[in-house]
Amino acid sequence: MAATARLLPAGAAALLLLLCLAGGTRATNVTYDHRALVIDGVRRVLVSGSIHYPRSTPDMWPGIIQKAKDGGLDVIETYVFWDIHEPVRGQYDFEGRKDLAAFVKAVADAGLYVHLRIGPYVCAEWNYGGFPLWLHFIPGIKFRTDNEPFKTEMQRFTAKVVDTMKGAGLYASQGGPIILSQIENEYGNIDSAYGAPGKAYMRWAAGMAVSLDTGVPWVMCQQTDAPDPLINTCNGFYCDQFTPNSDAKPKMWTENWSGWFLSFGGAVPYRPVEDLAFAVARFYQRGGTFQNYYMYHGGTNLDRSSGGPFIATSYDYDAPIDEYGLVRQPKWGHLRDVHKAIKLCEPALIATDPSYTSLGPNAEAAVYKTGSVCAAFLANIDGQSDKTVTFNGRMYRLPAWSVSILPDCKNVVLNTAQINSQVTSLEMRYLESSNLASDGSFITPELAISGWSYAIEPVGITKDNALTKAGLMEQINTTADASDFLWYSTSFTVKGDEPYLNGSQSNLVVNSLGHVLQVYINGKIAGSAQGSASSSLISWQKPIELVPGKNKIDLLSATVGLSNYGAFFDLVGAGITGPVKLSGTNGALDLSSAEWTYQIGLRGEDLHLYDPSEASPEWVSANAYPINQPLIWYKTKFTPPAGDDPVAIDFTGMGKGEAWVNGQSIGRYWPTNLAPQSGCVNSCNYRGNYNSNKCLKKCGQPSQTLYHVPRSFLQPGSNDLVLFEQFGGDPSKISFVIRQTGSVCAQVSEAHPAQVDSWNSSQQQRYGPALRLECPKDGQVISSIKFASFGTPSGTCGSYRHGECSSTQTLSVVQEACIGVSSCSVPVSSTYFGNPCTGVTKSLAVEAACS
Ligand code: GAL
Repeated sequence: MAATARLLPAGAAALLLLLCLAGGTRATNVTYDHRALVIDGVRRVLVSGSIHYPRSTPDMWPGIIQKAKDGGLDVIETYVFWDIHEPVRGQYDFEGRKDLAAFVKAVADAGLYVHLRIGPYVCAEWNYGGFPLWLHFIPGIKFRTDNEPFKTEMQRFTAKVVDTMKGAGLYASQGGPIILSQIENEYGNIDSAYGAPGKAYMRWAAGMAVSLDTGVPWVMCQQTDAPDPLINTCNGFYCDQFTPNSDAKPKMWTENWSGWFLSFGGAVPYRPVEDLAFAVARFYQRGGTFQNYYMYHGGTNLDRSSGGPFIATSYDYDAPIDEYGLVRQPKWGHLRDVHKAIKLCEPALIATDPSYTSLGPNAEAAVYKTGSVCAAFLANIDGQSDKTVTFNGRMYRLPAWSVSILPDCKNVVLNTAQINSQVTSLEMRYLESSNLASDGSFITPELAISGWSYAIEPVGITKDNALTKAGLMEQINTTADASDFLWYSTSFTVKGDEPYLNGSQSNLVVNSLGHVLQVYINGKIAGSAQGSASSSLISWQKPIELVPGKNKIDLLSATVGLSNYGAFFDLVGAGITGPVKLSGTNGALDLSSAEWTYQIGLRGEDLHLYDPSEASPEWVSANAYPINQPLIWYKTKFTPPAGDDPVAIDFTGMGKGEAWVNGQSIGRYWPTNLAPQSGCVNSCNYRGNYNSNKCLKKCGQPSQTLYHVPRSFLQPGSNDLVLFEQFGGDPSKISFVIRQTGSVCAQVSEAHPAQVDSWNSSQQQRYGPALRLECPKDGQVISSIKFASFGTPSGTCGSYRHGECSSTQTLSVVQEACIGVSSCSVPVSSTYFGNPCTGVTKSLAVEAACS
């Protein structure tokens, strides 16, 4: 594609932009130059965010996309997940949650653009990196290298996606929203492992993509040597130092990690918004014009879609929109303010290149100035000390690790470390449940749940199609991931004088590539073991009791998401590859090459026990049901929680398993898998370089107890919940919860700039800082002020305390301004509240309730 564009004057550009947004169906021309993507002749400063369509449900899409738009996004980025679209080779599925075109249209309906990252390798903490398992079984195939069978399949699927989008008229060149596409994903991180064929493959992929003639630019992320005309882009926590591989390409950031993903057995990662805002502002300061939050809404790994091993079911990611689709504050609000501030600079940013000047050690100004426009960014990249710098003859106070944005090169509209946005607490409210009476009536208004029925999943081989073979087989090659589970079963005869015996015992050793192992001896559980996200390997050993005559060993191996990252991730393997050995005082018996019988999956899976629309005689309804025993299916009925708040189940009390609501999987649950005891910080210092281990919470606690039940999975009246419990649990302990916004708070200092909305270059000095509160739900009004202090309050939302200095009028003034309205704005100034103490920078902290 042409990498140059004629630039239009700003007025014409704005008019064109308006026409484009209003027109909807006009063909749009997307190119790029060294500064930016150029849309219909106009360079654009764009803010993008990742939302993966299968990680929420179609009824959630419009709301999430609208919140993204309100948050200041221009572009929604999504990967395309090959495995869900082509579960069987040649059989495509674009229905429901997999309706990619519907998702793209929903983005277009909101007036936003789309960046379609086709991959088709996507990583994404998605099972097998998004590749369908059948791909692995194509003779002679080698993934992600110069291999004909692989390239044929990759080209076919990529073309299928492009054709599907073209068929629906979704490329910008056709008047649709897609302005950008990605081929491959971070191949440059690992391509050296593939040698010269890897380079050949990368060039082939680029050429193949371009040949599909989408009419919009292609990118390759983390691929320094991406060939023209592909744009090489950056992924990371910071990308301000990145430069593209040609002077003709813009500086683009495809993954700004807004937090990090959660693993079963890991602590919960979070990324402070001050640091994220700093990274964003630094990127635009240093010449960037396109950045994408990975993730803006993370969502939920429903079904068995999570990658691995050990990726959790929640893919919340500490994103600006939380797993449940609610805005996370102040993250969402502060970033919205950052986006507005950057957009105020857009005329200058697209008009010229930045020039940099030092403002002293670790402090830097970037100025975009030409003709009548001028915008500046002042950065303090010192991780410890605040600084006062002089810029254009004026003094500016820059908190440590912050950027101030000056859309007129004079007045500060925003500083990344000073949050004007409100904070809201998101709470899980546990619903009171009561048993459904036999006549169908129930007492509590919140939720009714019936008794539990159960079905026993038998130990060992019960299916007719079991397979017997000498030796131990790798799991993924055997199951093709049709199930998490593979039974390995063998038997042997004990006469009593075998060398591997110590009396009636023998020491059994089982080595597995992972991910989870249960050992049954003669039908009884003898132990279990599991790997972890950092190493899935298992080496289990224990003395076991043997009986004279025939003895049976049944090993249940389970995967918890297939590997999704790294060179040759597809060949990592899983399951019991041995050795499996019995040993005693006088010798050993290696069972590794014995005859083993294999069963893929559980009997209950074959019987579709998860789908209650199919009645099965297996289910036992009785007052008493087995608890804390492995391999049990449980089933109950419940009424849906009233209202439209998001719903979750707290699985505390259960072990590990999978859950289905009305036959739809809500993913794997594993509340007994705990985060390590150490490595967490109570309050994470945002200053200084962030990494995925820097800010962790919930050490020593379960990685995930709460599991999202999308509202659209529920129906009025009776709903079915089915669990398959692998380790043992007590289903009477589970509870239903709804996610709600609690208090609305804000704390704004006199030293903050005015609210970004009040920006007006010539008048900026006249506006002072203001505290704004807004009820999260339509129709709500502020009903009470729980706390208000102007002075030196401390603490956080929900636990603010008065400081030594506090204006006595604060509460009544704030009540007067805020009670009974859905939003209010209060000036943060002594002229308003009186001056409770001189010579001190004061702040206003307020906690309010909405109803
Ligand atoms: C990147 C990758 C993404 C995702 C991310 C971590 O390396 O491109 O797909 O896996 O890491 O969340």
